Amino acid sequence: MALTSIKDALRNAHAGGYAVALFDTFDMHATEGMLQAFEEKRAPALIGIYGGFFEQANARSHAAYIRERAAMATVPVSLMLDHGASFEQCMKAISYGFTDVMYDGSRLPLDENIAQAAAVVRAAHAMGVCVEAELGHVGSGAEYQAYGAQRKGFTDPDAVARFVAETDVDCLAVAIGTAHGVYQGDPHIDLDLLRAIRARVDIPLVMHGGSGLSEEQFRSAIQAGIAKVNVATELFITAASRMREAARDADVSYFDLARLAVTTFRERCGYYLDLFGASGRIVY
Ligand code: 13P
Repeated sequence: MALTSIKDALRNAHAGGYAVALFDTFDMHATEGMLQAFEEKRAPALIGIYGGFFEQANARSHAAYIRERAAMATVPVSLMLDHGASFEQCMKAISYGFTDVMYDGSRLPLDENIAQAAAVVRAAHAMGVCVEAELGHVGSGAEYQAYGAQRKGFTDPDAVARFVAETDVDCLAVAIGTAHGVYQGDPHIDLDLLRAIRARVDIPLVMHGGSGLSEEQFRSAIQAGIAKVNVATELFITAASRMREAARDADVSYFDLARLAVTTFRERCGYYLDLFGASGRIVY
């Protein structure tokens, strides 16, 4: 099937009390494993390409590969620019065939974040592309004790309604205690804050920094209003660990390791799709 915007699936997840998943990819083996999981689980999901990686020379060809490979899949697949750094980068991604973009203005002052996100939305919606923005700032796990654990960057619930009304974004990433990468210490999600945000806006909310959260944390966040969850780090750590283990065997081949990468991504992505309640949601 041709790549398809996540917009309708996201709306269904929001209404149905489950979450779609976004997994970031940097190469073909990870991508292949993800696509196999999407098909096996018949789950709506996104492949994400991170804004930093997007600037590398092979990003355009990788996006083209994903488009061709997704066309062979038996389920619709969405391709999102994850953490788009600028209006220009979001437009470039759309011109490369991305179906959805995240514009990340979370480090900007509120008015500037609103102005930039609104400009991306206007242009993207005219081309049928769904837009995610971030309000508050989700930091890094390596700085968790000094940042997220201190509630720094947390989303201000009083700013949410204005942000959504003035930008017309399709979904909103919120800072509620998660962080990107490996957590320093244990992560704590502020579910009361999440519920307060949810009470103010009726759009799908997005949780970044999925790696390292417990099953209970995922379940309760989804129950409290999260309709999209991003996961990356854990997939790469698990694949690397399995590949290191396999490489202890002197006879292991390149092809064995490549296959192991694919099967690890397939298995781990499938696990998350089940956990988020997305499996089996594609019924045709
Ligand atoms: P993790 O790498 O911490 O899972 O976060 C992924 C993410 O939020 C990408 O946008």
